[in-house]
Amino acid sequence: MRIPLFSWLFFVPICSIFLTFSIHVVSGHCLDDQKSFLKFNTTLSTKLVHWNVARDCCSWEGVTCSNESFSKGHVIGLNLNNESIYVGLDYSSSLFSLQHLQDLSLANNNFNNSQIPPGFGNLMNLSYLNLSNAGFLGQIPVEISNLKRLVTLDLSTSPFLSVSMLKIENPDLAMLVRNFSELKELYLDGVNISASGNEWCRALSSSLPNLSVLSMSDCYLSGPLDSSLLKLQSLSIIRLNNNPLNAPISEFFANFTNLTSLGLRFCGLNGTFPEKIFLVPTLQTLDLSYNDLLQGSLPEFLPNGSLRSLLLSGTIFSGALPDSIGNLKRLSKIDLSTCNFNGSIPNSMANLTQLIYLDMSYNKFNGQIPSFSMAKNLTEINLSFNDLGGGINSTRWEELINLVNLDLGYNSIEGSIPMSLFSHPSIQKLQLSNNKFSGGLQEFNVSSYPLDHLDLSSNNLEGPLPASVFKLQGLNFLSFSFNNFSGSFQLDGIQKLRNLSEIDLSYNKLSINYNGTASPLLFPYFTTFKLASCNLGKFPDFLRNQSTLNNLDLSQNQIHGEIPNWIWQLNSLMYLNLSHNHFLTLQQEPSQNLPSQLSVLDLHSNKLQGQLPHLPPLVTYLDFSKNNFSSVIPTSIGISLNSTIFLSLSSNKFHGDIPQSLCNGAYLRFPKKSSPTWTAMMANEGEVKSKLNHLQFRFLHFGQFYYQDMITVTTKGLELELVSILSIFTSIDVSCNQLDGPIPEEIAALKSLYSLNISHNAFSGQIPLSLGNLTQLESLDLSSNNLTGEIPMQLADLTFLAVLNLSFNKLVGRIPQGKQFATFSENSFEGNRGLCGDSLNKKCAAATGPRSPLPKFEETHLNPGIVIDWNVVSAELGFVFGLGIVIGPLMFWKRWRIWYYKHVDDILFSIFPQLYLGKEYHQSRAQ
Ligand SMILES: *[C@@H]1O[C@H](CO)[C@@H](O)[C@H](O)[C@H]1NC(C)=O
Ligand SMILES: *[C@@H]1O[C@H](CO)[C@@H](O)[C@H](O)[C@H]1NC(C)=O
Ligand SMILES: *[C@@H]1O[C@H](CO)[C@@H](O)[C@H](O)[C@H]1NC(C)=O
Ligand SMILES: *[C@@H]1O[C@H](CO)[C@@H](O)[C@H](O)[C@H]1NC(C)=O
Ligand SMILES: *[C@@H]1O[C@H](CO)[C@@H](O)[C@H](O)[C@H]1NC(C)=O
Ligand SMILES: *[C@@H]1O[C@H](CO)[C@@H](O)[C@H](O)[C@H]1NC(C)=O
Repeated sequence: MRIPLFSWLFFVPICSIFLTFSIHVVSGHCLDDQKSFLKFNTTLSTKLVHWNVARDCCSWEGVTCSNESFSKGHVIGLNLNNESIYVGLDYSSSLFSLQHLQDLSLANNNFNNSQIPPGFGNLMNLSYLNLSNAGFLGQIPVEISNLKRLVTLDLSTSPFLSVSMLKIENPDLAMLVRNFSELKELYLDGVNISASGNEWCRALSSSLPNLSVLSMSDCYLSGPLDSSLLKLQSLSIIRLNNNPLNAPISEFFANFTNLTSLGLRFCGLNGTFPEKIFLVPTLQTLDLSYNDLLQGSLPEFLPNGSLRSLLLSGTIFSGALPDSIGNLKRLSKIDLSTCNFNGSIPNSMANLTQLIYLDMSYNKFNGQIPSFSMAKNLTEINLSFNDLGGGINSTRWEELINLVNLDLGYNSIEGSIPMSLFSHPSIQKLQLSNNKFSGGLQEFNVSSYPLDHLDLSSNNLEGPLPASVFKLQGLNFLSFSFNNFSGSFQLDGIQKLRNLSEIDLSYNKLSINYNGTASPLLFPYFTTFKLASCNLGKFPDFLRNQSTLNNLDLSQNQIHGEIPNWIWQLNSLMYLNLSHNHFLTLQQEPSQNLPSQLSVLDLHSNKLQGQLPHLPPLVTYLDFSKNNFSSVIPTSIGISLNSTIFLSLSSNKFHGDIPQSLCNGAYLRFPKKSSPTWTAMMANEGEVKSKLNHLQFRFLHFGQFYYQDMITVTTKGLELELVSILSIFTSIDVSCNQLDGPIPEEIAALKSLYSLNISHNAFSGQIPLSLGNLTQLESLDLSSNNLTGEIPMQLADLTFLAVLNLSFNKLVGRIPQGKQFATFSENSFEGNRGLCGDSLNKKCAAATGPRSPLPKFEETHLNPGIVIDWNVVSAELGFVFGLGIVIGPLMFWKRWRIWYYKHVDDILFSIFPQLYLGKEYHQSRAQ
């Protein structure tokens, strides 16, 4: 509630009036002729609310009066920082008659998107003016340039606080600063200046000889930087983050003799960064992060270097770290993540005792990890995603008493895991997954509970799960998956972990028992429960009331009988994998709808019978294969399939034909085209995996997002364990059923179909010519059906086609010739008596008669037409847009996440479903 408080109004003028004229009036007398002015939020204000008009205003909080004899009593300073002022200050405001004012701060208020009043120009004695984050917008008035005595001018706005901006256009920057010969500090962050490199550099260098702090992040400044800046030899802090400089940085920056801080984050810098700049003796902070075209390498550092903060994340800096990095004795923060560094991490880094933050993840560092025992203030160590080996027992972890986050995941580190990490007094996040750690875990002393995230997955750990882990009451994330842990484990053991949101014990040699006697547990944050391949014999029905559960994997167990009906009532469920069990019935009540958020449903390899359920609209991955379903494929499936990128109904007893509706929608969000050079990647399976892992991790690094679940897709004969559903497949598999009828022409509407398998059915009729329009198709299996007629020429145009199986049909005529077709062997065509051609080593008769003409359909409907183009275009837009939204901020948020990752998760959860809901958007674009 905004209450204009007339009784507590802010009456600076009263003060100035009666002080100036030395009239001791009772303040009450002045009230009548001074109206309006500032309105503020009484809850948030700390100074204004206490202003008491009955007292001398020089005693008011935030007010400073002069003590000089000639001006005694004049208000010279006014600090109304953070007072939640939301209205006031117009032309006539009496604030502007405080002629003696030297220091004025109205920072962090909310002047409701009004313009800066020109009245500030009257305050000719101002040397300090701070209007940062005050909610002003629009052109900065020319009157500001009258303030010739300014030493500090701060008009900055944090980009997170405001959508609309202040701007400097007319008058331009040169005009605005032309009189500021005494200015030392200029903060214009977030002000739209939109000037070229020459323009803004010269404007500053010709008028501000004393400038020492230049802070103009987010100002739409272009580059390249002009060497006239060198005139400003007092420059000590230069902050130009987030400007489209799009140019190299030239060596003249090394000539600033007083430079202490240089910030050029997100500036589109390219070329090679001059090594000399690292060696500027005064330089303490260098931030070049997120300039993804910027190359460079680290120089030999001189003894007693002054660098404290070295941030190169997201550049393409390369080479090895010099041993002399140990000379940077004052270094406290180093972020080299996501660069191209290689070589070993120099042992000399053990000498960096001031380190607080160390992130060298996503490089190619190898060799041993040096001991960091001497850096007692380290809070964060992230060396994940490198090729580091050796063990980690040389660091005395218990001595790093400030360590909060230790991330060594995705390396090749061996040896045992020091138990001191588990009972560590401050570590909250321990991420050691995807290494070669071996041996067992001993019991340890649980004295405090800081550990919140424990990930030991994908190592070679063995022996029983230590009971002590299940006493770490702070645990939120726990994964032991993909190890060799053995022994039996009573599921009730987790009941002390009330903060648990994710637990994964999958793929060990564990026997997990659940006797179902414990009273239903309730974990308020529970989202993910994975017990794949755990010899579980009973459905863990304590999950019944976990309304926050969205990810459940009980695959590869021994669970019999019915899938309990309460599963379908968990409305937040998005991922459900019950494959490889002995389930007989899908639903006790067939009318029960599946959870509307359900996106991945994997029930393959059970004994499920009867009808397919009604599918929810957001399903992206569906696997019902290897069951005993025996119905026709329901026509309703098409509606659900608008968002599906993987469908398998194979090896059941489905009969009837493929409903046309199957082909209706399928405007797919992530067409293969958007994937970076998928075809090239296929060359090497290992590389594919690592890239997919990487891609996956780009998405998932920031939150335990549910799509990181294992999905196996068979393609090109390779079984790839895809770790992300964001991967770009579209696959339909209805093989090994009893389906018949023709292959519907409409299948060509599934534009981004990547793999189609209808083999081992009883399909008849001709191969539709329209299949030639599935330009993304890489795998096509029509074998073992009753297809007749000739192989359409159009199939020879499918340039990505790498697997083709037409064998065992009743096809006739010549096998089409074409680059792609020449690579297919006899196996692709055998068992068709009427076929001839080189691949079968069977000469064709001179003329095979007229080809069956069906070109009409193709010409009119399926030429690359508007619908299709829009579809591809908009899908790509969606993809890029989505990436932009998600990756961009996430890169930004990475650091914050340590403290706030739950919030980020929330944001992710709200963004991602929208990516999957792009259908309407595509359709509206198509119309
Ligand atoms: C004042 O601030 C409090 C606390 O943030 C808020 O609840 C209230 O709505 C604000 N009142 C006005 C008038 O903005
Ligand atoms: C550089 O900084 C020093 C120490 O702060 C100062 O004395 C000197 O005047 C500065 N040099 C210039 C050119 O401003
Ligand atoms: C920078 O300083 C070097 C000598 O230290 C000098 O040769 C060079 O010309 C200077 N560059 C500029 C642009 O002034
Ligand atoms: C840097 O980028 C700009 C703008 O894209 C381009 O004109 C320039 O040639 C690039 N310079 C280098 C060294 O790559
Ligand atoms: C650490 O610094 C000392 C002296 O500064 C030096 O003698 C030693 O070799 C350094 N240690 C390493 C591992 O570089
Ligand atoms: C750790 O930080 C504290 C406080 O910032 C500082 O006083 C102390 O010198 C630091 N310790 C080391 C070993 O650098």
